[in-house]
Amino acid sequence: MNIGIIGAGTIGGFLIRELKNDPLFSLVAVTDIDTDVCIKALTDNGYPIDLHLPLAEFPENTDVYIEAASAATAPVVAKHALERGKVAIIASVGGLGDIDEYRVLAEKNGGQLRLPSGAISGLDALKAIPSESITKVVLVTTKPARTLASSEYIRERGLDLLNIKKPICVFSGFAREAAQAFPKSINVASTLSHATIGLDRTEVEIRADPDSDRNRHEIRIESGHGILVMETSNVPFEENPRTSRLAAYSILATIRDLTDPVIIGT
Ligand SMILES: NC(=O)c1ccc[n+]([C@@H]2O[C@H](COP(=O)([O-])OP(=O)(O)OC[C@H]3O[C@@H](n4cnc5c(N)ncnc54)[C@H](O)[C@@H]3O)[C@@H](O)[C@H]2O)c1
Repeated sequence: MNIGIIGAGTIGGFLIRELKNDPLFSLVAVTDIDTDVCIKALTDNGYPIDLHLPLAEFPENTDVYIEAASAATAPVVAKHALERGKVAIIASVGGLGDIDEYRVLAEKNGGQLRLPSGAISGLDALKAIPSESITKVVLVTTKPARTLASSEYIRERGLDLLNIKKPICVFSGFAREAAQAFPKSINVASTLSHATIGLDRTEVEIRADPDSDRNRHEIRIESGHGILVMETSNVPFEENPRTSRLAAYSILATIRDLTDPVIIGT
């Protein structure tokens, strides 16, 4: 399969490294608004720099477009891939908003939109439960205070997260507002919503913890088929502490599922 990557930062760079020795995948194009980042990711891994192309010039034989760039880039990549009947794997899920228009595009052209589990666990079970039986979905995300401190939402409210002494709640609302408030930090809220009861009913709380060095996600689902409680406590990437290593591995697993003869989990 021919792979094109949009965004060669933490996740994109990781994918370029990991896919390098996988004979089932060929990297055919990479783009990044920061040319130096893109060239470095390519040359560090022994790829020619002419793979650095703007999205509009990605080769026609690109089978899979992987967005690992930003919330604003996610809809552009999803539309580009789905209009061509290709697979779009989107990391910045919060940037998509409602996904109905992508479903229509994918159905019309024969493509597929894939939203990896990212930094959370348990989407396999959630997919299996009929969504009409789900009555309540709550996500509580706790991030190191210093990771959240630079967010625009926090700065606009004058919150000094670098000097808090105990965990505090910095956001409480629904997933749609959470994605708008923290476009770089809470993609999992949107992914969880799309798998369950939607952006306007999925409850989200975001906490800042001065003593933690992990990104923790606690999920509680109430349904007619039982209660599910899931927790992940993720090691962040050093180069971008907002991003958990699990998120990058989840995208890699999503790519590998495309060719894997055995699929485990729903
Ligand atoms: N789904 C999840 O669970 C999950 C988890 C972590 C991160 N993410 C999201 O994945 C995305 C990538 O994360 P990251 O840690 O690699 O970020 P990063 O900042 O390390 O890398 C992003 C790269 O994309 C580039 N970029 C930005 N806009 C671009 C555009 N329009 N075209 C091309 N390149 C562009 C930047 O220059 C940067 O090099 C972020 O939006 C992040 O919010 C999702």
